[in-house]
Amino acid sequence: MLLGVNVDHVATVREARRETEPDPVIAAELAVCGGADGITVHLREDRRHIQDRDVINVRRKISVELNLEMAATKEMIGIALKVRPELVTLVPEKRAELTTEGGLDLVKGRKKIKYAIDMIQRSGIPVSLFINPSESDIVISKELGARMIEIHTGLYANAKGKNKTEELSRVKKAVRKGLDLGLQVNAGHGLNFSNVKKIAAIKGLRGLYIGHSIIANSIYMGIEKTVREMKRLIDASNK
Ligand code: PXP
Repeated sequence: MLLGVNVDHVATVREARRETEPDPVIAAELAVCGGADGITVHLREDRRHIQDRDVINVRRKISVELNLEMAATKEMIGIALKVRPELVTLVPEKRAELTTEGGLDLVKGRKKIKYAIDMIQRSGIPVSLFINPSESDIVISKELGARMIEIHTGLYANAKGKNKTEELSRVKKAVRKGLDLGLQVNAGHGLNFSNVKKIAAIKGLRGLYIGHSIIANSIYMGIEKTVREMKRLIDASNK
């Protein structure tokens, strides 16, 4: 199972001072040394963390999968076609949110999302849709022609007690449905050293995309060691 490491929050710290350090590109290189199979950057419309130059530099410096997270806008489509990441993940974006709060609204956003998928996949770059673990969203993702989906694990991560079991079962069902429809299925959001194991144990998942907790633990342990430990937990749970 692949581990994609999101380095946005390295840029969050840098932008807190509008400084040149810490550099998300160096963090990405060290994450790869620790065993990351991919690097994710989210170029937000408000450029609150990752900047355009980071996307270009990370593209130049890393040879593992670059996953560009973006909103389905014309500006971002243009950037994706220029940078040519290995994967584009379309995510919803609201300016006031602290992080991506839920999956895409595939009903309201259908036309824009379909346009983005067509433009990007026509150029040979696969598109993944970040969606809630809902059967109807998976069916719509297939109809829209996306090659891949990423199931939002945030509700599972935040749930407690009986709800946690229910949320895990929703994620499992969603993965199965996606696989049955012939989609490649990833998962991510809110995963950490303790809750990653049950998600990593789900058969058929292609990869996990993890940011906040890896960057947070890197402050204590360094990014290389943190990524190595996350990768070890994923591999041990996925036997
Ligand atoms: N996947 C997607 C689509 C995301 O938007 C994010 C957050 O940027 C993540 C995964 C990683 O979530 P977290 O930072 O909670 O690990």
